[in-house]
Amino acid sequence: GSFAEVTLRVFRGDKDGGAPADYSVPLVPGMVVLDALHWIQAHQAPDLAVRWNCKAGKCGSCSAEVNGRPRLTCKTRMDSLPLDQPIDIFPMKSFPVIKDLVTDVSWNFKVNRKIPPFQPRPGVAWKMDQRDVDRIQEFRKCIECFLCQNICHVLRDHDKQEQFGGPRFFVRTASLEMHPLDGASRARLLKDELGIGLCNITKCCTEVCPEDIHITDNAIIPLKERVVDEFYDPLLMLVRKIRSA
Ligand code: SF4
Ligand code: F3S
Ligand code: FES
Repeated sequence: GSFAEVTLRVFRGDKDGGAPADYSVPLVPGMVVLDALHWIQAHQAPDLAVRWNCKAGKCGSCSAEVNGRPRLTCKTRMDSLPLDQPIDIFPMKSFPVIKDLVTDVSWNFKVNRKIPPFQPRPGVAWKMDQRDVDRIQEFRKCIECFLCQNICHVLRDHDKQEQFGGPRFFVRTASLEMHPLDGASRARLLKDELGIGLCNITKCCTEVCPEDIHITDNAIIPLKERVVDEFYDPLLMLVRKIRSA
């Protein structure tokens, strides 16, 4: 059916708590959730805090939970939602609320700083196969929306922020580890500091990624294999011992 108005049930509050408030918004063809939030700001609640920048699915700023699902609000069309009932708009659950829909995602930048950047191997020709370019190009599409971090149960339900880096940073580490010209090893970092062993391959991260990065299959599983090879494979450990003797 067609609807002239829709109710948005938007969380209002801060780190000390809050409650959802209902706003009635006139529907416009092609409208996305972020448009509706802007309409509320313009007409009903000028103090509603919403983070956004590009409105084109590319800056990763407008992440929130729409009807309980992590989404970019600028890429979520109103006509894809059940409009005969209120639409819940909540801030990302895994990060502390600053105000309304705006969360403090700075923990992610702390994790990022633990990862050693690209370190060119000395003496190799600066030449890459197209295959190798394609493999890491996928990881470079990440827009740092942190929706994968938000949905991963290790962070969302078990609060392992101290022990676990999260899927976004497995993606970044994969882009470096799979770079044929890079000479650093991040296997120990993955095992000890980013806690890759805590990921039990639920694939929820992959499901929510707006860039369709195959986070679990293409980044996490190959990195887990690397950690196993490096630390737990007895034959390889022996070979390495003999080689370094
Ligand atoms: Fe967002 Fe995907 Fe990057 Fe995670 S990997 S931060 S879901 S773009
Ligand atoms: Fe979490 Fe993704 Fe692993 S959701 S458990 S990082 S597969
Ligand atoms: Fe930039 Fe939504 S506003 S991704």
